[in-house]
Amino acid sequence: MKLQDVVVVGATGLVGRKIVQVLEERNFPVARLRLLATERSIGKSLDFKGKGHPVEKLEARCFHGIEIAFFSAGSAVSKEFVPLAVQAGSLVIDNSSAFRMDPHVPLVVPEVNPRQIMFNKGIIANPNCSTIQMVVALKPLHERWKIRRIVVSTYQSVTGAGKKGADQLEAEMEKRNAYEKQFPHPIALNCLPQVDEFYEDGYSREEHKMINETKKIFGDDTIKVTATCVRVPVFGGHSESVNLEFERPFDIREVREALQQAPGVCVQDDISRSVYPMAISAHDHDGVFVGRLRRDESVRNGLNLWIVADNLRKGAATNAVQIAEEWLKRK
Ligand SMILES: NC(=O)c1ccc[n+]([C@@H]2O[C@H](COP(=O)([O-])OP(=O)(O)OC[C@H]3O[C@@H](n4cnc5c(N)ncnc54)[C@H](OP(=O)(O)O)[C@@H]3O)[C@@H](O)[C@H]2O)c1
Repeated sequence: MKLQDVVVVGATGLVGRKIVQVLEERNFPVARLRLLATERSIGKSLDFKGKGHPVEKLEARCFHGIEIAFFSAGSAVSKEFVPLAVQAGSLVIDNSSAFRMDPHVPLVVPEVNPRQIMFNKGIIANPNCSTIQMVVALKPLHERWKIRRIVVSTYQSVTGAGKKGADQLEAEMEKRNAYEKQFPHPIALNCLPQVDEFYEDGYSREEHKMINETKKIFGDDTIKVTATCVRVPVFGGHSESVNLEFERPFDIREVREALQQAPGVCVQDDISRSVYPMAISAHDHDGVFVGRLRRDESVRNGLNLWIVADNLRKGAATNAVQIAEEWLKRK
């Protein structure tokens, strides 16, 4: 495969660092790697394949000759610099929410809708972390039994809020006072039913993302989705309690088999030995872990399940690198 000139924008952040690590782990065909962040990070360097790479300041001219640009520096940076990268001829894989709902931008999870990749016009959006893990697990079930309604409650790691989120939990656990607050309340020994800001309808931005992005990725506006997103004092991954209503009757053994055969899904479901997915065991793995499978007897064709994944890996970096791999394969 032809080697690619690659940049990572936001390389010093939690997602950016993980992208660099995943590019190396998966032996992505990198010719030249440029790492970009703010001026504050000049002087830092990150290791890639045993060699230190200096961090440079993000500027418009950084995209000259770049084939693939991974963006993970927030929406404002993406809105300003992604069009410049596209103009310079780069394929952009954007981790921010800036372009996710743009009808001209594919929103891709390679296990679910890989064909959308080839409809890109220079930008491919990486979905929200909570949405990615949910749709990977639900795809084989939707295909077979057609999901009518999803009710999801999340238990999201502090790393989903970037470096500052992780710093706040660490500082509170160590009873340090001097730290920049990321959350509106203490997060240690607490649960916050707020992920990102609230809209007038009472839902948070994260809840809106889960609802809208799920429909776009499945290409199915008829699925009803409602979400409650909660931040919990966990470092290593997001957990989700998901309740589904199917259009067609199902057999729970067939549901288990469908999940066992689904790409990217790992079933951990043996309640006799207290085996089920946990953030602590999903941490630093690429899989989407599914367990606590059980019929919901309160509705027709109802199913409950518990889904866990590492938000920095499958929820961000791994999914972004998989998109780039698929694009190279199909190009
Ligand atoms: N964390 C997750 O689980 C997750 C999952 C999916 C998607 N995302 C998305 O990925 C993006 C990054 O998240 P993160 O968790 O990695 O955040 P983070 O840890 O706070 O890192 C932010 C990165 O962006 C850089 N940056 C900020 N402003 C910049 C500017 N004006 N110019 C250049 N670089 C700038 C920072 O550079 P400095 O170090 O120099 O400040 C840093 O490298 C966000 O859009 C987020 O929504 C995050």
